[in-house]
Amino acid sequence: MILNVPDSNSTRRRFLKTAAAATAGTFLSGMRSFPSNIARAQDPPACPTAPSGGNPFAAGSDTRPIVLRKSISALAPSELSELQTAFANLRALPSGDNRRWLLEADVHALFCDQCSGVNMQIHGSWNFFPWHRAYLYYYERILGSLVGDLDNFRLPYWDWENSRSMPSPYRNPGNTGNPLWDSSRDSGIAGGGNLPASDGTTSRIHTLYGITDFASFGGTAAFAGACENDPHNIIHSDVGPAASPFEDMGNLGYAARDPIFFAHHCNIDKLWSGWNGQPGGTGTDFKNPTDSGFLTARWSFYDENQKVVSISAADVLDHRNNLRYVYTLPRIRIPIYYEIYICELICCLPGPDPLSFLKVSQEVRETLLTQFRESTPMVLVLHGVEIPEDVTGVFDVAAVRGDRRLQIGSLSVLADTMADKRHKPITLVLDITRAAEDLLAPEKPAGIRLFARHEKENKSKPFILRAQSAQIRTERRGAKPQA
Ligand code: C2O
Repeated sequence: MILNVPDSNSTRRRFLKTAAAATAGTFLSGMRSFPSNIARAQDPPACPTAPSGGNPFAAGSDTRPIVLRKSISALAPSELSELQTAFANLRALPSGDNRRWLLEADVHALFCDQCSGVNMQIHGSWNFFPWHRAYLYYYERILGSLVGDLDNFRLPYWDWENSRSMPSPYRNPGNTGNPLWDSSRDSGIAGGGNLPASDGTTSRIHTLYGITDFASFGGTAAFAGACENDPHNIIHSDVGPAASPFEDMGNLGYAARDPIFFAHHCNIDKLWSGWNGQPGGTGTDFKNPTDSGFLTARWSFYDENQKVVSISAADVLDHRNNLRYVYTLPRIRIPIYYEIYICELICCLPGPDPLSFLKVSQEVRETLLTQFRESTPMVLVLHGVEIPEDVTGVFDVAAVRGDRRLQIGSLSVLADTMADKRHKPITLVLDITRAAEDLLAPEKPAGIRLFARHEKENKSKPFILRAQSAQIRTERRGAKPQA
């Protein structure tokens, strides 16, 4: 009810802007245009009642064919037009329909804790991967059934590691005649510009695929894994506009109103699937948690019949057999493992730019500096990094020593509309391969500092990095020696 009423001034302003853009642009032939209020909806999100309970998913009940989820760039013309029609049909559903586009977007907002009074935050913890996999599964079923192809329709992914600009079907035409278009994106990205060179790269994926423990990669009950920050949050921030309130993609309360959300998350899901398939691990390496707190988490969604259904984290782990899709996984890398050196992140040197430093024993320093000279890949893993309450924005993380500034990673705190402003602690995996000598120098070592990418945003104030624990992991080739 409230949902589809475009009642705020900002919505109306956007409507006029969009309508003008639409007249100037070309419509896809045969494509319905969608009203801008459906594109933008109300501000801030007034979420519907959360789906709850519902028929539990039963493993083996989905007997559709197992179908490949493809890169958008690999879709055949007929598959692309099916995708466009599916989104057009979704956007056209009437306001009472439990599959409707805006309700589905708000289901995401509900599980981001973006709706006052509802406490269902699935970001910032090990729920992040399984919840989004489940959400995409039901979303995919809804889209498939809307084009009469439930059996074979699968979501495509935006493999930003290969396609550095937003896939053209999501940008062109840039008007309401294109059901994959969204009016509220970063202008550079919307215009076909490349992602920032450091974000969502194959080398970042390579680094993450060396992180063998799920806690660091995918999170724990208490904090986010490294993937959630970078590349997940970072790509969200890059696609959303560069200024507050960063919606759609840069704001968790709105992100799922941009169709690119689903292509982005499909790639994140592929990243998780690929991590599970990495070779050379022993014991729990590359394995999902077996804790019952992880496995039994259960969430409700609407299915393609508008019915409430529920599904658990355990149900989604085997996506091939239970959810009926697969990915062509990235070329399997040669096995590696990490040697782990415990260190400490200490803070701070007084001054206008407070910095954090690494503290290691003399013996560890010497070992690591030798490995540095041999160009051994090295990452710094920071667990339990606290994000101050009032921070939003994107930061480059750099090692700074004298005039030298080497970027070692990125950090993105997405905007939100949560009543509870506390952020969950995050895990940072920082590539210090080039910076280790500066960071470990016995005299005047480099400090670690955040640089805001959008300095004018007043919530993007750099803060001091503090971590519950810190490790340096150096990459070793071959199979891990048995302990
Ligand atoms: Cu639920 Cu990409 O966020």
